[in-house]
Amino acid sequence: MSKVKRIAVLTSGGDAPGMNAAVRAVVRASVYHDLHIYGIYRGYDGMVEGKIKRLEAGDVANIIQRGGTILKTARSEAFRTAEGRKKAYENLKANDIDGVVVIGGNGTYTGADVFSKEYNIAMVGLPGTIDNDIYGTDYTIGFDTAINTAIEAVDKIRDTADSHNRIFFVEVMGRHSGYIALHTGIGSGAGAIFLPETNTTVQELCEHLALSIKRQKLFNLVIVAEGNQNGDATTLAKEVKALSPEYDIKVTIIGHLQRGGAPTAMDRVLASRMGHSAVQSLMRGESGVALGIINDKIIFTPFHEAINKTKPINKQLIRMAEILAM
Ligand code: F6P
Repeated sequence: MSKVKRIAVLTSGGDAPGMNAAVRAVVRASVYHDLHIYGIYRGYDGMVEGKIKRLEAGDVANIIQRGGTILKTARSEAFRTAEGRKKAYENLKANDIDGVVVIGGNGTYTGADVFSKEYNIAMVGLPGTIDNDIYGTDYTIGFDTAINTAIEAVDKIRDTADSHNRIFFVEVMGRHSGYIALHTGIGSGAGAIFLPETNTTVQELCEHLALSIKRQKLFNLVIVAEGNQNGDATTLAKEVKALSPEYDIKVTIIGHLQRGGAPTAMDRVLASRMGHSAVQSLMRGESGVALGIINDKIIFTPFHEAINKTKPINKQLIRMAEILAM
């Protein structure tokens, strides 16, 4: 016997490629198990405003390959207030909804944690963010697509950097987390990588660049996470230019390009597995938990733990990137 009868799904926070594949999986698995399934539009704002619509299997046809989210997304201010959450609860109850799958990052989990403790609504979270910074899962939905997009961009920059003997500072997303920068840097063979988690100095970078030139490597690619401790790409580029005015330096900020586009096969499969398992877990009676996949196994982490613990960046990968960048 399923513990839930009518469930809803929403996407919240920054969109991530693969969110649609996850929504499709939640809808199709629900229909398969004879549950009523509802879409909530624009994240928690839609819950507060009652933007809730019954979905059928056909409503999620032709979306597995699309980036963004058909449910739209938002970072809700209203849901932060007790009044807003009360309205949200009333809207769910008006539709007899007893379970919700939320797809998003840390902010989304924070909302779900508070709400599932205040009200008797079962909630399961899926990690949907390009940042890959969620504790309790090896990978988040959207990360693989984002790094592939970033690497494709850096490959193109490499051509022009090489042709002109230039040093390019390429900024990728990641306000608090260096996963995108580290994986983009390794995958594009960058000369140096700057992360929020490390403390590489401009002095160290200049020594590395000088050594490269001595070895006849006349161009270089430096990948910088937007939240790098010692400044973003523009700041670092200015500081290097001040120390070594002879360098021909350019800056490229990839920005929101990284958030769009068709999800990769990895993201589609990850999102499908997670969406399908989320429905099964609600039926079993799980609530207040974030679903993740670690070593290929579905696992559940209480929201408060997923929010409060940091997924550490792999120090061995950082070291390896330095060795390979010689
Ligand atoms: O969390 C995803 C993310 O893309 C971060 O990498 C980035 O710092 C942030 O969202 C940008 O948010 P916004 O689209 O609101 O500017």
